[in-house]
Amino acid sequence: MNKHKLHTLYVSLLTMVLLIVSFGPAFTAFAEEVNSQPKKVLVMGTSPDFPPYESVDAQNNGEIIGLDIDIAKFILNELGYELKIASTDFSGLIAAMQSGRVDFIMSGMSATEERKQNVDFSDPYYFARNTIVSKEDNIFESIESLNGKIIGAQLGSVQEAISNSIEDAAEVRKLNKVPDLIQELNSNRIDAAIVEDAVAVEMTNANAKLVMNFLPADNNENGYAIAFPKGSPYVAEFNTVIAQMQESGKLDELLLKWFPDADAKSARNDKLIDFSTLQGYVPYIVKGVGVTLLFTLVSAVLGLILGSILSLFKISGIKPLEWFATAYTSIFRGTPLLVQLLLIYYATPQLTGFVIPPLMAAGLAFGLNSAAYLSETIRAGIMAVDKGQREAAIALGIPYRKMMISIIFPQALRNILPALVNECVALIKESSLVSVIGVADLLRRADFVRATTFRSFEALLLVAAIYYVLVLILTSLARMLERRLRRSD
Ligand code: ARG
Repeated sequence: MNKHKLHTLYVSLLTMVLLIVSFGPAFTAFAEEVNSQPKKVLVMGTSPDFPPYESVDAQNNGEIIGLDIDIAKFILNELGYELKIASTDFSGLIAAMQSGRVDFIMSGMSATEERKQNVDFSDPYYFARNTIVSKEDNIFESIESLNGKIIGAQLGSVQEAISNSIEDAAEVRKLNKVPDLIQELNSNRIDAAIVEDAVAVEMTNANAKLVMNFLPADNNENGYAIAFPKGSPYVAEFNTVIAQMQESGKLDELLLKWFPDADAKSARNDKLIDFSTLQGYVPYIVKGVGVTLLFTLVSAVLGLILGSILSLFKISGIKPLEWFATAYTSIFRGTPLLVQLLLIYYATPQLTGFVIPPLMAAGLAFGLNSAAYLSETIRAGIMAVDKGQREAAIALGIPYRKMMISIIFPQALRNILPALVNECVALIKESSLVSVIGVADLLRRADFVRATTFRSFEALLLVAAIYYVLVLILTSLARMLERRLRRSD
């Protein structure tokens, strides 16, 4: 191997190390900004799919609102803390608290014995009753009547446990979000859903064909309570304020404010498609474009830099580097991107104690993944540059690095431009995966809107159209660029 080659490799290795080292503190600084407000900030975990307790006010900038939020605000205000809200799906809340992402959970969470093994609960602030929600032409009044039926419930909820205990149920469908249950009911994929009272009232009020029936009040020991990490010092403080709210009537006042009127069935919207249901929500959804683009850009840049370095490794002729790059590509190409994303997001805090923020985890996962694909593309591009170019450069005594940077790479890039554009298109579309870790990108915003409007088609179609337009813009820009490059031949 010649000296120049070694030199280039040395430089790329150094760049890689530098990248990692410089990204590290930048990430940490970013994370600290997110995590360490001037103390006394308590982060509350909630799953905003549960009106009137918690839902996203998509018409109002996506703020999370509800009875639980008002109670939390009141308590924290009394105690002199500042409230910050973090949202995850209900089934992920306790894990989020255990990994330190949130300080307490308020999410209409029932204080069950099972959960008490892992968390400490405050005193209860509300007792809910279960209901069976179903279509009006298919009514169920008791648990027994559900035998042989397909039952829906939210994953990880008490209602899931109840459904599971119905031995003769045809099937229990577990869904991540409560509003998904409505979609499933409307499309007859489930016969009935088990849902708690106030939420069921909201559902049936908003939905033409749904009705609810109360189940007998069972054990009143499972009231809604605030969950804390085991041994948390906050439990006692919070309990004092809860007691005070009960005595002063503050709690009743808030209940009155948030609880829906059971007789107030809103105008029934029977229309198959009705884009007016999106009214007021469009700006909120469109704002997701920024998030989607931002992190498509971050991952593309990260992917391109790492991918170039890896491609140099692959053609370096140095065995360990080649092995490394090959193994890297093989692993990142051989496992699903979604799994990589979840691994980075959940494993990082578990292994290192560093609570990686969602956007950072996403940028990292997508960048690392994209690098694997790009390294192959770039390598192929370099190999495709006519050998004569290299020979001529060497004959002219042009140094290796200069030859690579000013002669080989530009030609390689031009060769692979279409492939690069494909990668960016893929990144834009795949970015929708980040909604699973709670980044408010386009898709997740649509989810929130679906949760409040109880309709799926309109919001999803809008989001699909936005992605499509983004991709169209990107591909036409690329075509222009390509044409210009060809002209300069
Ligand atoms: N009370 C039920 C439970 O603790 C359901 C709570 C669901 N809450 C929510 N925000 N989706 O399991």
